[in-house]
Amino acid sequence: MIAVTKRYGFPAAHVLASRELSPEENEAIFGPCANPNGHGHNYGVEVTVTGPIDPDSGQVVPEATLDEIYQAAVAEPFSHRLLNDLEDFATRVPTAENIAVAIHGRLASAVRRSTRARLLRVRIVETPRNSCVVGEVK
Ligand code: NI
Repeated sequence: MIAVTKRYGFPAAHVLASRELSPEENEAIFGPCANPNGHGHNYGVEVTVTGPIDPDSGQVVPEATLDEIYQAAVAEPFSHRLLNDLEDFATRVPTAENIAVAIHGRLASAVRRSTRARLLRVRIVETPRNSCVVGEVK
């Protein structure tokens, strides 16, 4: 199997707090990350696809195609936003895990529609100390 990874990223803010919980409960789970004024991250997004190498281009997916997919499916909706405001997080706290699931879902369908490859995994790098992978993990 061949896997190709491209690294992207976007800046965004979030508040780690569930609407179902009290401020005290949120504080107990999320600590200072529950601060209602939010805080920001420069999220790294590693996108890995797999599929046949196109004999003409020598690539699994043309770089420009993956760039366009990322731009439309992730950068435009997520970049410079308060993630809690997005439909993706209407009922989910925008943790690294839930951000990774949302981005994986958006990219998987776009890759399926626009290429002969398939999305293997998405890694979200939230800080130098934490990241989260959705998909086939090795
Ligand atoms: Ni955070």
